Amino acid sequence: MFYCMNQEISKLRDLIRKHEYNYYVLNEPTISDQEFDKLMYKLQQLEKENPDCFDPNSPTQRVGSDLSNNNFEHITHKYPMLSLSNTYSIAEVQEWYNRVAKLLNEPFQVVCELKFDGTSVSLIYEDGKLTKAITRGDGIVGDDITNNVRTIKNVPLLLLNNYPESVEFRGEILLPWKEFDRINKEREENEETLFANPRNAAAGTIKLLNPKIVAQRNLYTSIYYMLGDNLPSDSHYENLMMAKSYGVNISKDIKLCDELSEIVQYINYWDKERKHLPYATDGIVLKVNSISQQNKLGLTAKSPRWAIAFKFQAERELTKLLSVDYQVGRTGVVTPVANLSPVLLSGTIVKRATLHNADFMENLDLHIGDMVYIEKGGEIIPKIIEVDLSKRDLFSNKVQFISHCPECGSPLIRYAGEAAYYCTNYNSCPPQIKGRIEHFVGRKAMNIDGLGTETISLLFDAGLIHDFTDLYSLTTKQLLDLDRFAEKSANNIIKAIQKSRSIPFHKVLFALGIRFVGETTAKLLATHFKDIDNIINASKEQLMAIPEVGERIATSIVEFMSDANNIRIINTLREVGLQFKQEDDNKILSSKLQNLNFVISGVFNLHSREEYKLMIEQNGGRMLSSVSSNVNYLLAGNNMGPSKLEKANKLGVNIISEDEFLKMIQ
Ligand code: IVH
Repeated sequence: MFYCMNQEISKLRDLIRKHEYNYYVLNEPTISDQEFDKLMYKLQQLEKENPDCFDPNSPTQRVGSDLSNNNFEHITHKYPMLSLSNTYSIAEVQEWYNRVAKLLNEPFQVVCELKFDGTSVSLIYEDGKLTKAITRGDGIVGDDITNNVRTIKNVPLLLLNNYPESVEFRGEILLPWKEFDRINKEREENEETLFANPRNAAAGTIKLLNPKIVAQRNLYTSIYYMLGDNLPSDSHYENLMMAKSYGVNISKDIKLCDELSEIVQYINYWDKERKHLPYATDGIVLKVNSISQQNKLGLTAKSPRWAIAFKFQAERELTKLLSVDYQVGRTGVVTPVANLSPVLLSGTIVKRATLHNADFMENLDLHIGDMVYIEKGGEIIPKIIEVDLSKRDLFSNKVQFISHCPECGSPLIRYAGEAAYYCTNYNSCPPQIKGRIEHFVGRKAMNIDGLGTETISLLFDAGLIHDFTDLYSLTTKQLLDLDRFAEKSANNIIKAIQKSRSIPFHKVLFALGIRFVGETTAKLLATHFKDIDNIINASKEQLMAIPEVGERIATSIVEFMSDANNIRIINTLREVGLQFKQEDDNKILSSKLQNLNFVISGVFNLHSREEYKLMIEQNGGRMLSSVSSNVNYLLAGNNMGPSKLEKANKLGVNIISEDEFLKMIQ
């Protein structure tokens, strides 16, 4: 029991709760954010001075503690968390309505709600205090995510007014579109896998081990059901209104309907209007309002008969194809990109869509000026799905894939078996050079901070760098002369470049940007050949002696090493002091993973992928780059691709979490 004698603290906590309620539930703040922050600051100070008054339900506790628990405890739901059966047409909704009418054989009302697309949660309150927050799990048992849920600002830690003694709320944890975009931008900068949609992002976030990071993500909840032995009303709608008065956030867009026509109206309205909502929605939920009627209707094996979901069609929009641009990447791949008339799609303005490659474009038979349907369907980058041929101008021109590089004018080639076209001017095509430099300085390569895309472009255009060897002769003065850098940032860049001389050989090898030589292959090559000269002189067959190096990679390495300019670059880098020999600091700590092959996939909470790779190798294990029958363990993080998982399951590869892995090497 947390009891506080300090009147000022108690009053301040109540006052802050009232303002939180006004802000998060009523959407009617009565003070400015700044004033609110001041109150919060004052409470933090008072609590610091009065440690006896600590209360986990104080509004100050939402910021999350630094404590991380290693695992989520499994908790059995008091009431199973059911799912809903889906319908996709008004006709199916009508069938459901008629079925309910027949079964009940008495008047009934239906509550229409938005189906927010996040991750479901169960919130349990005892004596008005949030005691547990549990994920859906398998519907019977879920994960205890209480510490993380405590950080969500619109989840009341304490209920208000005449709340029931013991009550459970079911709802959805959501990530607003804006926040989703912000997080993905941040992840892109950190070269982390992007979240495919706000649902995955919300589900991933709520399972993070560090509540402090959860607190930074601005999650949000919307409650859609109340459960308990002594509910205030027999009406689901009334119960939600009561829940609101307890301080719980309820969607303001629920509607109580007496007739089917009102339901149809609601569906049609939200099918269009949902595009303007700040949260992702994937349908409408219809629920029989009376709880006693719900009980009468009962359940089928998986879902209740008293509720149904109407799923929206994946959002698509019709817009005009204005032109096609061609982007040249670091490897010379030319990617066509459609410029579109700006259109609002799933909460964001879309102006461009990828066309992938020449085949994709050809299949669509695109003409400039075509009206095209674009869809987001789970992915972040919109796609053109089809052309509305009825709207095609008879005299429009078909889009032809270009034959020459848009950047340097060199002819493009297509390698056998590849969909992409490449610019052939490896040594002098500006975007290829700039792209290679960007890759060279990247976090996983030479890790030179302060050199972003724009700075590299600036240095290249000013003639200060022609390839990455020039980085090592750059001076602070040259940077300052560009009038873009303050002395401190110029100094920092030069320092970071100098520091990169100690980056280990395998990373330097990866930094060179040899086609198809990723981090794992670079590491294998460095370990096997020990020295750059051995790789320069290696034949295709010698390279292919490494099991993971196939013909494609070996050919690419041999080609790279037979280019005089690449050898000049390597020799210059060697002269300026970069590491071209494998240092023998690959300390073997144990042989616990001897003869075991690993693949790592996904994003991890406790260590970086880099660190896991090192741990595997230092304990005698081997890293492989893809799932095959040679793999013993797949170390799986968050958001790993479903195809990898499926393949691993099919091949009987052991799939382990980071906790399980750490136990293996403990
Ligand atoms: S009612 C038996 N109402 O959709 C009642 N669910 O398969 C079951 N969802 O995972 C849920 N908005 O998390 C309900 N207004 C709403 C909802 C909603 C989103 C999610 C829920 C569940 C899935 C239903």
